[in-house]
Amino acid sequence: MSLFTVAALESGYADQHIVKRVDMRVERAEVVALIGPNGAGKSTLLDTIAGLLKPRRGQVFLDGCEITGIDPEKTLSAGLAYVPQAGNIFPTLTVYETLQVCYRRDRFAAALEEMLELFPRLRQRLRTRAGLLSGGERQMLAIARALINRPFELLLMDEPSAALSVDNVRAIFERIAWIRQNGIAVLLVEQNAVKALQVCDRAYVMENGGIVLEDTGTALLGSSVVREHYLGIR
Ligand SMILES: Nc1ncnc2c1ncn2[C@@H]1O[C@H](COP(=O)(O)OP(=O)(O)O)[C@@H](O)[C@H]1O
Ligand SMILES: [Mg+2]
Repeated sequence: MSLFTVAALESGYADQHIVKRVDMRVERAEVVALIGPNGAGKSTLLDTIAGLLKPRRGQVFLDGCEITGIDPEKTLSAGLAYVPQAGNIFPTLTVYETLQVCYRRDRFAAALEEMLELFPRLRQRLRTRAGLLSGGERQMLAIARALINRPFELLLMDEPSAALSVDNVRAIFERIAWIRQNGIAVLLVEQNAVKALQVCDRAYVMENGGIVLEDTGTALLGSSVVREHYLGIR
């Protein structure tokens, strides 16, 4: 059985039917990318998995338990962490305060130290309010905020590299490799589709609310259809 399974999931907003019968799976410690054009429904799908939006049909399973329409407060105890698009940062809290208020387990000092080793840049910014951080630092804080609550099984990330400099994009993708090495599976939504396909084990392509392609990252990178239609390269 897969670690994570989405079966015939459908969701949307009011009379707008956005996510259309999506089937998906993620294995243990697997990095799975979800790519596709703007407006395809990727963020809507992640919000639905994380319980922020209630599904209209279908089911979601994690680690053998059904988590369809889960209370967002309960995702962590079910084994799921979510870094939404745009980070979800409190601008008036410092880096230290943000990690402290988000932490739900014992021994904060040790957990904080581990996150500062993973994101050394944040150590220099511990007393800085999140609203004053650069885009890259803010994204690092958003990821650290999720990761500090380990252990969990699956991390959902929505466009972690959006609007970042080349150096920061590299840093974020290096951290994704670290996450996988620590036995956590990742479902990664990315605009940076080439990088996402390079870092992932498998990927899904979403278009108009449905999954249109699924294969290994390597196979999709080598596909002329994918290169032309989704990566903009020939
Ligand atoms: N809160 C919302 N209310 C109504 N429509 C929305 C909302 N959020 C997104 N949408 C619409 O849902 C569709 C899919 O959006 P989204 O899931 O954000 O796509 P993606 O993340 O792939 O760019 C778009 O047509 C968008 O306009
Ligand atoms: Mg989105």
